[in-house]
Amino acid sequence: MTIYSGVLETYRPYLDIPAHTRTVTLLEGNTPLIPLPRLAKTLGGGFELFVKFEGLNPTGSFKDRGMTVAISEAFGRGAKSVICASTGNTAASAAAYASRANMRSIVIIPAGKVAAGKLAGAVAYGAEVIQIDGSFDDALNLVVAISERHPIALVNSLNPYRLEGQKTAAFEICEVLGTSPDWLALPVGNAGNITAYWMGFKQLNDREATGLPQILGVQAEGAAPLVLGHPVEHPETVATAIRIGRPARAEQALAAAEESKGRIIAVSDGEILSMQKLLAANGVWVEPASAAGLAGLAHELEHDLINLKGKRVTAVCTGHGLKDPDIITREMAKPHVLPAEMNALEDYLVQERE
Ligand code: F0G
Repeated sequence: MTIYSGVLETYRPYLDIPAHTRTVTLLEGNTPLIPLPRLAKTLGGGFELFVKFEGLNPTGSFKDRGMTVAISEAFGRGAKSVICASTGNTAASAAAYASRANMRSIVIIPAGKVAAGKLAGAVAYGAEVIQIDGSFDDALNLVVAISERHPIALVNSLNPYRLEGQKTAAFEICEVLGTSPDWLALPVGNAGNITAYWMGFKQLNDREATGLPQILGVQAEGAAPLVLGHPVEHPETVATAIRIGRPARAEQALAAAEESKGRIIAVSDGEILSMQKLLAANGVWVEPASAAGLAGLAHELEHDLINLKGKRVTAVCTGHGLKDPDIITREMAKPHVLPAEMNALEDYLVQERE
């Protein structure tokens, strides 16, 4: 029996990390690549569609891949505390891995804009949670400055080890498909993940000639600095995970899109929520931001801006639906209320069928 040992141990020879790194893992990674033939058909058909469901990582998002490496490096050099700015998922992940290593974690979040499941996670894992009356971008500026003045390790994706971990998702996709997909669609917020995927695909292609995907990075219309070509002062979107106006890795994200002969586009909140619903109707419940990649693909197909005939497409679904339960209760159908009686239930079921 081979025992899975998490992304750091599994891919260690391919990660650019210092020798002092001491593995702190929750056995993240190794997430399923789920084929969704019915959804591909709904979108027009003629192509193969897979979802890399990163919501199945230990804390419910792709952040765990990067966090295991960032925390392992910090732990290995004797750091006692870590800090990050977050729209929620990074916070929960940092808190979990810091606790695993018995380190202190401090997370700074924008007040009122963090989904319930993420805040609960950060608190449950033992982070010191600080809300600021400002945006994610303000929080990121603060934590960068603090980490320069104090011995506290920064674990946002400005930390290069985060990207080393996150690029392993590209390796896993190619292992399953045998080659790279033709297109990779994913949401873009602070732009660490798109940067990491491109690094991973390029590295693997150099080593094993797996080919390279065209990358479709997708932002929300109200938070689309990379599409507009300038920072957005007051980003707004239902997809709070990617409510970011000044992405830290903007240049690398644009380079990834260009080099891969792909692009970065924006979709509306309506398109994001419809795709969230459609994914769930195919058995995959993701948080709103995580539906953005596929919403972008659907957008391009609908406007005849992409030709996927005969292609293999992978969409990255970055976080689990359980992260943001409120959006469902707010936007979607409410439960039917009936008396606890057989007749009432029977009447209801018959009515529904008619
Ligand atoms: N999807 C989800 C669910 C996210 O939480 C994030 C980022 C992204 C996509 C975008 O990834 O920033 O690498 O471009 N969340 C960060 C956080 C900002 O604080 O949890 P990115």
